Amino acid sequence: MAAISVEPCTFALFGALGDLALRKLFPALYQLDRANLLHADTRLLALAREPGSAQEHLTTIENHLRRHVADADLEPAALGRFLGRLSYQHLDFLQPEGYLALAEQAPAELPLIAYFATAAAVYGAICENLDKAGLAGRTRVVLEKPIGHDLESSRRVNDAVARFFPESRVYRIDHYLGKETVQNLIALRFANSLFETQWNQNSISHVEITVAEKVGIEGRWGYFDKAGQLRDMIQNHLLQLLCLIAMDPPSELSADSIRDEKVKVLKALAPITGDGLSTRVVRGQYIAGYSDGKPVPGYLEEDNANAQSDTETFVALRADIRNWRWSGVPFYLRTGKRMPQKLSQIVIHFKETPHYIFAPEQRLQVGNKLIIRLQPDEGISLRVMTKEQGLDKGMQLRSGPLQLNFSDTWRTARIPDAYERLLLEVMRGNQNLFVRKDEIEYAWTWCDQLIAGWRNAGDAPKPYAAGSWGPMSSIALITRDGRAWYGDI
Ligand code: BG6
Repeated sequence: MAAISVEPCTFALFGALGDLALRKLFPALYQLDRANLLHADTRLLALAREPGSAQEHLTTIENHLRRHVADADLEPAALGRFLGRLSYQHLDFLQPEGYLALAEQAPAELPLIAYFATAAAVYGAICENLDKAGLAGRTRVVLEKPIGHDLESSRRVNDAVARFFPESRVYRIDHYLGKETVQNLIALRFANSLFETQWNQNSISHVEITVAEKVGIEGRWGYFDKAGQLRDMIQNHLLQLLCLIAMDPPSELSADSIRDEKVKVLKALAPITGDGLSTRVVRGQYIAGYSDGKPVPGYLEEDNANAQSDTETFVALRADIRNWRWSGVPFYLRTGKRMPQKLSQIVIHFKETPHYIFAPEQRLQVGNKLIIRLQPDEGISLRVMTKEQGLDKGMQLRSGPLQLNFSDTWRTARIPDAYERLLLEVMRGNQNLFVRKDEIEYAWTWCDQLIAGWRNAGDAPKPYAAGSWGPMSSIALITRDGRAWYGDI
């Protein structure tokens, strides 16, 4: 029996036949239903503009569900119940007429959740049409990224939505905020007194955030090439992680208290300009190499690629936060496609002891590290120094983990996908895990200035072989400061 009560709603998914909906959103809704987290009166409405019959499209959705949900989780009773809630409506998002039919399917006494899994260019038109159909007053809108490609375009999208919806009913998705370990990061920091006293420049030397993907562009070349890794990953996911690590404790667990603190961090980020463009940031683009031992093409040889593109598929940078807590503590961010493995992790490096008394050659491994792994094998581990066991070992030191591996510790519990949590929180009307307009704007301001710097300097991305950890200069970026990426030593 679910411990959380969820009110009933009508959940309308715009762009229901798109990749995100089929691969992530319907499976997440199914898992919520299976866990008894959808109210019995909740109805799911798939909306798309593709031609074809409703039956045909419902079959497509069901087929994808069977493909993307683990076999062990496909329970006939749960699947039957889920499909029983689901209906399909053909809708041209730009034409107001179809929205009357939508209104008829959405009982007036229930909130309507309108999830936009469509291009941001049509968000404004959808909002206007929801308003014309008399639906805006009881609707929460959920906006997928990317919201624009720079500050100006993101403002245009947000302003178009704000004409019809107050901020309190706008839910901007950054799916990293729904990941289990990211949630745990908040618990770790603010439910344990142990860390907070150490969480500053007195005790921490630097922080690393790595989000590496093994995959390449996966048929999304057209989209990705206009964005690049800075806009696609740093502007949102990595900066959100940085904010959660760096923010001051909020005064309460409300959405705005948390978001106010995150905004302060974004405002304090030092712009990367001038010499910093060559010493503090590295752009890379993968060339042909190997993934899992098999040859794979370079970015410019992918399907539909434009061979002249200078879009980056890798970024490493050093971010500095200008405030008392973090003065002199660099945050090294690194993210790329076609890396050797899929790995998202944050490593907090604590300072060395003030006076070192052990053998000099062991000095490099000294220093506690808190490792927060988002994927794979979600877990938190604190590396502490101990002595090697045995009479013959003298005072030989060893760095070992105090470990909390979520899947080992709670073997029975399935780790939910980020979208399950986010969809549940929208249904509960809780904005904690969603990004506020000003967060997006400050993140864009910081990224825009970096992109402008690249453009003015005519900076070309450095090549790196697919299956490697990025260009050599990304190693120099951190070794220049006398440090190394975790795992490299
Ligand atoms: C998306 C990006 O936001 O995040 C993709 O647009 C990227 O390019 C994806 O592949 C990574 O998400 P995850 O959860 O697999 O790390």
